[in-house]
Amino acid sequence: MNRTNLSDAAGQEPRELASLRWTGEHLEMLDQRLLPEQIVFLSLNEAEEVWEAIFSMKVRGAPAIGIAAAYGVYLGIRGYEPAGDSERERLHNLELKINEVADRLATSRPTAVNLFWALDRIRSRTVEWTAASSASTEDGDRVEQLKQLVLKEAHDIQAEDETTCRLIGEHALSLFEDGMGVLTHCNAGGLATARYGTALAPFYLAKAQGWNLKVFADETRPVLQGARLTAFELQQAGIDVTLICDNMAAMVMSKGWVQAVIVGTDRVAANGDVANKIGTYGLAVLAKAHNIPFYVACPLSTIDMNTPTGDLIPIEERHEREVTEGFGRRTAPQGIKVFNPAFDVTPNEYVTAIITEKGIIRPSYQENLPKLFG
Ligand code: MRU
Repeated sequence: MNRTNLSDAAGQEPRELASLRWTGEHLEMLDQRLLPEQIVFLSLNEAEEVWEAIFSMKVRGAPAIGIAAAYGVYLGIRGYEPAGDSERERLHNLELKINEVADRLATSRPTAVNLFWALDRIRSRTVEWTAASSASTEDGDRVEQLKQLVLKEAHDIQAEDETTCRLIGEHALSLFEDGMGVLTHCNAGGLATARYGTALAPFYLAKAQGWNLKVFADETRPVLQGARLTAFELQQAGIDVTLICDNMAAMVMSKGWVQAVIVGTDRVAANGDVANKIGTYGLAVLAKAHNIPFYVACPLSTIDMNTPTGDLIPIEERHEREVTEGFGRRTAPQGIKVFNPAFDVTPNEYVTAIITEKGIIRPSYQENLPKLFG
């Protein structure tokens, strides 16, 4: 894995940073672990490097993880020469390899359903193409064609995510008014998606139309996605953003400084329960106590109709060091017991609306979410 250290972020011209870019030869990835202090791009050439980057959160955020994994499948098969006496057998072996690489990438993180969605989309596309291809009389190196199909699918997933996020932003913006204060948690911005973000998309669109929304960004312990990423990307874009520690949200609400909360999500269950960054549930309870609407923004690919309720969503637990050494030095006694879930589940009754590319969905989610997939 190569690293390109472009510069220190401090003193740099504001510019839009893409978390993932296919260069034609490799996957270029912005190392989000190093933000905001350093802007370092990694060159990924192997599926295993993509696995490690997702696991260690160099790339993070549900849609971005899915996009990275899709490119990871291509990186895992592009140098593979399937054995076989016939083209049919070689194609079959390539299909097996695609599944093997996808299975491995699927073990990188458990909660964001976009990872599994993207990998399943590539598997389905492969099966469809192989079936159609065996019936076709067209010539050509089908093994190479199938590899290119996987790459194209990764490009499509990335391009569609950008369009989707823009639509989510437009729908979300219809819920806001110029001058409003809005609180967000974690990072559901351009860094977590192909562009714009989900929860942060309306802030970019508001800025573009001359509105001044006042964003409050929760710091988001323990990995500090709010401080390191949301505060960074909104500040770079010239959006009015104020950073607060997670335990300040109640005070900010009680002062009447925010009129809405908007967050992203890693997985929405079929009943509308929402898994998102740890701390989201507490925020939703606070919002209800202060009569503030609590919005969740996500693409359809984050809604998991196969998981009936939130208690069935697998919740990742991460290393205790994130809690005990999160600030670059030890902040707790050696040997202390630590509980470090990366996500929590907000029960659907706290969710005012779910904002998707197809529009704004309100309760009952049990009744209204299936209509999105009709
Ligand atoms: O652990 P992370 O940083 O991957 O968690 C990210 C979040 O919780 C985001 O809110 C979610 O993935 C939505 S990103 C559009």
